[in-house]
Amino acid sequence: MAYYLNNNVLSCAIFLFLMLFSCKNEEKIVEAPVEKKVEYEMYQPSEMSGFMNAMYAYNVQLKTQIVAGETPNSMPLDLLKLHTAEMTDGKSRTQNWESFVNVFIESQEAVVDTLSNTELKTRFNTAINNCLSCHKTECTGPIPKIKRLLIP
Ligand code: HEC
Repeated sequence: MAYYLNNNVLSCAIFLFLMLFSCKNEEKIVEAPVEKKVEYEMYQPSEMSGFMNAMYAYNVQLKTQIVAGETPNSMPLDLLKLHTAEMTDGKSRTQNWESFVNVFIESQEAVVDTLSNTELKTRFNTAINNCLSCHKTECTGPIPKIKRLLIP
């Protein structure tokens, strides 16, 4: 009986190994050099995607500073790019976009306004909530990632 079981486990292992092996082999065929090039072109991020990722990185940095008790005072991004950057094919600025974008820009600039009477954490979370307001209608994918920026 023990021998039979062992044998069964062994054949399962061999079978799995072969499956893995054959999957790998298939991948190799799919990733022929010519096809790879086409894929790269298809997934080229838009100017807007690039800018969004820069805004995300900047806000990660702000959060780190605020949590550490520091007072950030520089906003190196050109937020007016939101009005001009090219978006992924097929996407355009909707009425919703237009209604959120300026509110967002103001709130993002307010985070580094060292003369403000509003608590720093509140100003930061307001900016992030404005990212979320626009994302709820314009681009829902990154919402969980953006939510993690909020300071509890
Ligand atoms: C006025 C609307 C609006 C605001 C405000 C906004 N976003 Fe976006 N965001 C978009 C749209 C639309 C896209 C998709 C852009 C595209 O595909 O060209 C996007 C894409 C993204 C992406 C995905 C980029 C990628 O890799 O494709 C991230 C991450 C992101 N936004 C984060 C943020 C963060 C963080 C903020 C606030 C600091 C923010 N967004 C504010 C509308 C907005």
